[in-house]
Amino acid sequence: MFGRKKAEYVAPVNEQGRKAVIDIRDITKVYTMGDIEVRALQGVSLTVYDGEFISIMGPSGSGKSTMMHILGALDQPTSGEYYLDGVNVAELNDSDLARIRNQKIGFVFQSFNLLKRTSALRQVELPMIYGNGKDRTKRAKAALEAVGLGSRLDHLPSELSGGQQQRVAIARAIVNQPAIILADEPTGNLDSRSGTEVLKIFQTLNREQGRTTVFVTHDAFIARHTDRVIMLRDGKLVADRKVPEPLIAGEAERPSEAAELEEIFKTVYYEGDKQEYN
Ligand SMILES: Nc1ncnc2c1ncn2[C@@H]1O[C@H](COP(=O)(O)OP(=O)(O)OP(=O)(O)O)[C@@H](O)[C@H]1O
Ligand SMILES: [Mg+2]
Repeated sequence: MFGRKKAEYVAPVNEQGRKAVIDIRDITKVYTMGDIEVRALQGVSLTVYDGEFISIMGPSGSGKSTMMHILGALDQPTSGEYYLDGVNVAELNDSDLARIRNQKIGFVFQSFNLLKRTSALRQVELPMIYGNGKDRTKRAKAALEAVGLGSRLDHLPSELSGGQQQRVAIARAIVNQPAIILADEPTGNLDSRSGTEVLKIFQTLNREQGRTTVFVTHDAFIARHTDRVIMLRDGKLVADRKVPEPLIAGEAERPSEAAELEEIFKTVYYEGDKQEYN
């Protein structure tokens, strides 16, 4: 349905028997600006299995958003392979890409990206352009109820708090039951209480509905609420750690940033780089 599958591709399966939903192999991304080449990704490979909750960390400019755009099929890599839910993304034409984005991916942005003069309910109905009308409203309501906004259906973005606006964006991202939720710093513009509420929604969607979620954050405390942390630096994947005992959103108190980083990366080091995370 989504273009030809390469005959030889078989999605890897992890120890729990979960299939890979994201499988990128040696991805590079080069931005060319006049004579200057920016090598934003320099050979990144990553497999994300069905049901995982992953955070991507790394300094500014390390390639996190570039990688999210590729994972979200918003952009194609310069080289390398990407299999999304078994489909070879490189072989898709623009209309297949648009469809796969709509059906398989829910994207949440730092800046919410809501339409200014559109009610919460209508924003969430929009991704269902392929569905039938009656069901659309019912499903949009259910998605808004799932993020705790059942009583804000007719509100415009300007009539909602930042955390509530982000929850509308999450409802919009989940309404098509996507295989993956991708969120690029979804708590970056929120105060810590709203950030925790938003985090709690992602965690609940992951734990109760098994939604595979990839989440960019600068905040090590937030990353500790996910199951696995990927670290990018200079366009390379430099660490991939399972989080020991992930925290439950809203229950744990925030310790100092330094302690958080130490907790996650205390056993991580790679040639010549040990100091970086000590
Ligand atoms: N459209 C573009 N054209 C040219 N260069 C770009 C473009 N987008 C990103 N870059 C460059 O690619 C590199 C990676 O950028 P990216 O936005 O992926 O970083 P990031 O890790 O998301 O950073 P931040 O934490 O600040 O959001 C940077 O050096 C950036 O300047
Ligand atoms: Mg970014």
